This record gives sequence, structure tokens and C-alpha cells, in this order.
Amino acid sequence: MALREIREYGDDVLARPCKEVKEVTPRIRELIDDMFETMYDANGVGLAAPQVGVLKRIVVIDCSPEGEDPHLLINPVIIETSGEQTGYEGCLSLPGKSGVVTRPNYVKVRAFDIDMKPFELEGTELLARAICHECDHLDGHMYVEKVEGDLVDNEELQQPEEE
Ligand code: NI
Repeated sequence: MALREIREYGDDVLARPCKEVKEVTPRIRELIDDMFETMYDANGVGLAAPQVGVLKRIVVIDCSPEGEDPHLLINPVIIETSGEQTGYEGCLSLPGKSGVVTRPNYVKVRAFDIDMKPFELEGTELLARAICHECDHLDGHMYVEKVEGDLVDNEELQQPEEE
């Protein structure tokens, strides 16, 4: 495993749509391991492959306080949403900043696991927010496009999550 460089906002790779994964090759397995390591090292709660410069539809998320339920989503598609939540959101590709974004409060996503078996994951609150945020990355979008008001420095806030 190795840490990968996190691409920052303004890098063209973050503005491009990602390609579907057809097969989990050893190289993709290594990418996934590296994505988890890079996310944890940066104290993030989510990371999408384009954030480490790879245009593939792969997302890792771990937003539980104890870190006991990391999620790997390959080719994720959001199939259901409901409700609404409005709150601060950050991104590892825009370090030190946060902004207010409204997201669904409930999300159901269909994705494939490491063995390319399909599964569904449901999330509310922070997990729902993280799923939406990371899936946006796969289409070349960042949360700044959805921010209500101005971006703020994290020092002015209490420890917002970075995704
Ligand atoms: Ni992000």
C-alpha cells in the first residue's frame, strides 16, 4: 500500500467524468487499498478515485466515529433519495475550507463490491451526504458548485468533515 497524492480543486482531473470499472484487476485492488490508506492518512471520511488522479468510478467512505464500517463502492448509482439536510461540507481536494450544502437526508445507492457482486447500501445524515458528495466526484463535480453562500476557513468552524 502507498499514499497517493490528493489532487486539488482546479486540477483538470477533478472536472472530468470517470469510466466504469469492468473488472477488479490486481492494479485496481492496489488502487482501492491506496485510496483507503490515503483517506485515513488525511483524516477524511470519503475519497473518490479522481481525487488521486484515476478516472474510474470507485469511492471509499468511512464516516463512522469508530471506523468500523468502511464502504467500498464500485460503479455506484444513487437509486433513491428522500428528505433534506443542510450543513457544512468539506473536501480533501479543497483543504481547509468548508461550505454549506443541502443534500438528501436519506440515500440508497447500488454498487459493486470488490468481487464485482452487486449490493445496495442505505445511508442517512453524514453517510447520505458522503455518498452524494463522492458520487458527484465521479461525474466531475465538486461541492463548491452547490455551496450556499461563501466558502469559509475551517479555523472558523468546529472540525467539519472532509470528503
Ligand atoms: Ni470531495
